[in-house]
Amino acid sequence: MARPEILKCVLCGKEYSPEPERYVCGTCGLDGTLDVLYDVNEAKKRLMKDSLSLSREMSMWRYRDIMPVLNDANIPELSVGWTPLYENKRLASEYGVRKLYVKDDGRNPTASLKDRASAVGVAKALDFGQKTVACASTGNAASSLSGFAAVTGLESYIFVPEKAPAAKVTQLLVYGANVVLVKGDYAKAFDLATAAIEKFGWYNRNCAINPYLVEGKKTCAMEMAEQLNWEVPDRVFIPVGDGCCIGGLYKGFRDLLELGLIDRMPKITGVQAEGSSPIYKAITENSERVNFGPANTIADSISVGAPRNWAKALRAIRKSGGAAVTVTDNEILSAIPELARSSGVFGEPAGVTGFAGFRKMALAGETAPDETVAVVVTGNGLKDIESAKRSVGKPLSCSPDIEEFSRLIDLRRTHK
Ligand SMILES: Cc1ncc(COP(=O)(O)O)c(C=O)c1O
Ligand SMILES: [Zn+2]
Repeated sequence: MARPEILKCVLCGKEYSPEPERYVCGTCGLDGTLDVLYDVNEAKKRLMKDSLSLSREMSMWRYRDIMPVLNDANIPELSVGWTPLYENKRLASEYGVRKLYVKDDGRNPTASLKDRASAVGVAKALDFGQKTVACASTGNAASSLSGFAAVTGLESYIFVPEKAPAAKVTQLLVYGANVVLVKGDYAKAFDLATAAIEKFGWYNRNCAINPYLVEGKKTCAMEMAEQLNWEVPDRVFIPVGDGCCIGGLYKGFRDLLELGLIDRMPKITGVQAEGSSPIYKAITENSERVNFGPANTIADSISVGAPRNWAKALRAIRKSGGAAVTVTDNEILSAIPELARSSGVFGEPAGVTGFAGFRKMALAGETAPDETVAVVVTGNGLKDIESAKRSVGKPLSCSPDIEEFSRLIDLRRTHK
């Protein structure tokens, strides 16, 4: 297991040793999120194409030699990662790109990409001898943490906005978390969680604060590269809220570059909802920092006006030569059935936002015909069926009578 060598501030470059209570840069404060850096030469000895191809660890822990867990015994017994990457020829031809891949991260144990982060979060809590973990979340990080706390026996305190979708809140309660519905939006939930964590000394699983969690998310990029036989896509689309997922993708590809397993960085393209797009604004205005703004979108998971990991998000887009794009709520909603009907992957609103961004750029002629593209679906559609219902028609309603059914079918056919 790789021991993290140093934690390095993404803003000022200051380095820290990996102490349990070290979350962000002492100089830059909350904005100064930290990268976890390893002894790459050591990791190189074990992470090789051949050894990986023989690995029987069909989970994200196949990359444990470049992950920050000290004690293997602390890795939770819940299988995360190694999610399918589907090639979709239909969508590739429809939108005029050479190849299109769909990475279905809704297939994780609590049904979102957040499981990659939570698995590392609870392992680090155990590494550091903590008994209680806590986080604020738009919903998925919360349900994910509660699942992983359950399986490791840690106690969890979860702060979510009062309007979080019922499925996510129910998931929390089923897993036995202490759930706090905070009156207000995600920013308010974040503030209360931060104050409570400080006061009670719990382990902080907030992804934008805890440097180790992005190390879980980076495995999504590593898997894509390995699943494509180390030929990375030209462009990857991913939804952006706080900025941890996109930051994780960048870190994953960068680690692979340093390990010599890939030879180029894909253009990482962040997709935000129009009503909640501070990262997009900073990129288009070419500003160094992100101004916090409103958050109003049907895609609750990315309804984030104050993205806490903005520094890693901006870096991912800029350093990879990627882009930022926004989509409307209607574009998000229409992406749900389109993706499901063309690929079989049913995503929640935020989950399909990467695909909606790809579709928009492709239709605007901003992708190239020789490009290979991957879209990451970050959460399963069953998480938020109220939104999914808005994206589709109604079922037929019929008595158990074949005559009535025949009339209904005829009617439907004449209206098609
Ligand atoms: C399904 C889904 N997609 C995307 C995101 C955005 O991730 P991040 O906040 O790391 O940018 C989230 C975060 O909650 C999510 O749950
Ligand atoms: Zn700093």
